[in-house]
Amino acid sequence: MTDRHDQPEFDVIDISSLSFWALSPEERDVRFAELRRTRPVSWQRPVDTALAESQIPGFWAVTTRDLIREVSTHPELFCSGEGTQLEEIPEDFRAVAESFLAMDGDEHLRMRKLMSSAFTPKQVKRIEEQIRRRATSIVDRLLEIGEGDFVENVSKQMPMNTFYDIAGLPQEYRDEAAHHADGLASWNDPDVAAGREPGQVVSDALLGNLSIGLEFADLTRKCPRDDVWSNLIQAEVDGRKLSDDDLASMFVLMSFAGNDTTRTTISLGTKAFLDNPDQLTYLLQDFDSRIDAAIEEVLRWVSPIMTFRRTATQDTVLAGRRIHRGDWVVMYYASGNRDENAFPDPWAFDITRKPNPHVAFGGGGPHFCLGNFLAKMMLRHMFDQLFHRVPNLTLGNPELLIGNFAGAVKRLPAFTGCPIAH
Ligand code: HEM
Repeated sequence: MTDRHDQPEFDVIDISSLSFWALSPEERDVRFAELRRTRPVSWQRPVDTALAESQIPGFWAVTTRDLIREVSTHPELFCSGEGTQLEEIPEDFRAVAESFLAMDGDEHLRMRKLMSSAFTPKQVKRIEEQIRRRATSIVDRLLEIGEGDFVENVSKQMPMNTFYDIAGLPQEYRDEAAHHADGLASWNDPDVAAGREPGQVVSDALLGNLSIGLEFADLTRKCPRDDVWSNLIQAEVDGRKLSDDDLASMFVLMSFAGNDTTRTTISLGTKAFLDNPDQLTYLLQDFDSRIDAAIEEVLRWVSPIMTFRRTATQDTVLAGRRIHRGDWVVMYYASGNRDENAFPDPWAFDITRKPNPHVAFGGGGPHFCLGNFLAKMMLRHMFDQLFHRVPNLTLGNPELLIGNFAGAVKRLPAFTGCPIAH
């Protein structure tokens, strides 16, 4: 923790309170835009939703695309090992929930490497047919039911089953594991909390996912398969095998990282196309050659992860602000992706945008999203199936989660225009 004698004034534009996150993305961006223009690094009060009593005097909020990139690509100045969330999380929770996301240097590299072979472009290409078939059957089912919640019936199904297939998690654990993973990102939301204290929501989610992770590690040890989790059981780091706790904590991280993000992007990406029919028409005129750029724009547009934190390892200066060792530095990806200096007309959903240097997967550097190729492959096949096979698809208004981390969609009514099966 920082010991500062020259504490700056809190910025008059408050982008830390829960009430700020309850505003619509457009309303939030009016505030972000002012900060980007006049003080891209601002001093903010600690969040009012802390899980543990706040020990920090405030934090730095970084709101432009270029500065997010600068922070992300200088891990020697801005580390992850002190935690990555905007609130104080008890240390034992952190170690279990964040695994190598909250590690630095060689330790991080060694752990990330164990997992990375399953997520290379080559490996993702190998499972493309499986992803295509899954997208087909999800859309078959949507057409069969005619209408319903798009999140539950469509968006959730693809990432949940794809990652758990890669890991080899038996079907009967999947819904529960995904449900607990959601709890880790949504404990601020009154609907999800349903009367429980935030700490209780996180603890329930964490314990639920950990116990599945431990059971799964045990199952894999007893009966190794030919998949990434079985390889992890055999793997050694610094001459020692991973413990069940290491494995369970990696499972929590992957469940958490791999589910909610892609789910939200499928939901809000589909909505973006339906709200911008000219863009959909343009895409469908030459799907194969336009889909890659379209996906980049969808990622920028949706920005499903809104923030991640680093901690300053030494005194430094960022955009003229004096950062002290130990200060928290929070990157606001949701703001960086609307930065008018990086994206002309940032509130236009424009799939021809080139270049499109968005920071939806992070601003580069060692923690850049490990699942980015996989996520893009899932998006490609979902959009392919949805837009080619459900021409009359309409979506209602999304119900958004309230919180400062994941811009998730809780519910999204869908109508296919097809007769409803009874
Ligand atoms: C649209 C989908 C996704 C988005 C927007 C997204 C976004 C992100 C972001 C912003 C980070 C942090 C980057 C940083 O700190 O610099 C991250 C890290 C990570 N993501 Fe993703 N993600 C997505 C999908 C996935 C999927 C499908 C998986 C795997 C199944 C995954 C696994 C990970 C992992 C393991 C990390 C931690 C990497 C590290 O610390 O080395 N993500 N992701």
